[in-house]
Amino acid sequence: MNPLKLEVCFSPIQFPLFQTDDKIVVVVDILRATTVITTMFINGVNKVIPVKTIEEAKELKKTGLLVVAERDGQKLDFADFGNSPFYFTKEVVENKTLVYSTTNGTNALTLGLNSNKVIVGSFLNISSIVEYLNKSLTDVIILCAGWKDRFSLEDCLFAGALTKKLLEAGCFYTKCDSANASVDLWEKAQENLDAYLEKVAQKHRLQKLGLHNVIPYCFEHDKTNLIPYLCLEKDKLKENLPYLIV
Ligand code: MLT
Repeated sequence: MNPLKLEVCFSPIQFPLFQTDDKIVVVVDILRATTVITTMFINGVNKVIPVKTIEEAKELKKTGLLVVAERDGQKLDFADFGNSPFYFTKEVVENKTLVYSTTNGTNALTLGLNSNKVIVGSFLNISSIVEYLNKSLTDVIILCAGWKDRFSLEDCLFAGALTKKLLEAGCFYTKCDSANASVDLWEKAQENLDAYLEKVAQKHRLQKLGLHNVIPYCFEHDKTNLIPYLCLEKDKLKENLPYLIV
């Protein structure tokens, strides 16, 4: 079998430069969107509807759905929840449908709609993603949500960790500088991850807001084998509204 191609896109603004329609897109936003989404499914959420804009979230709130929405890390006034993974316990989310809108993560998720498949990547489900992709027989792009189209170190570290595992498994190859650079950064960070995370801008943004208690959890590996994925289906709420399920 020919090896599968693996690429890394460091920012949503670069995503149109990639050929994506026949690829699996792994969307990552470690601090905090994809960690939050994975946690919601660990705790039994039924569906998560990612929306790019605040207006879409407000419209869907009128239908009675619970809304999780933040901008620049802070809960929006009309939202029911902000974006800490610790809010989404089984008692809060089990069997529920949640509307979700964040600064970067939900933008990245909706970008991948024309690809073969969009899956949610976090350290919480990284080994399950490796196993799935190795069986997928499909080329892969890891799309980093970044920060307002800028490079984000924590998303790059995840991309490096996932790329390293996929290359070592032997089903994938890469000639992508972003992929190779992400592996080097991940290996460098592994020398002392806690110390390295001091370089992460989003860590300091969250610290200023008093929201940094989640950071160790966001870097924990393999808390679940669930892989949330984005599907498009005519929905009674709104035509062609994509939503995440497992
Ligand atoms: C994002 O969308 O970049 C993050 O979810 C932002 C955050 O959680 O503070």
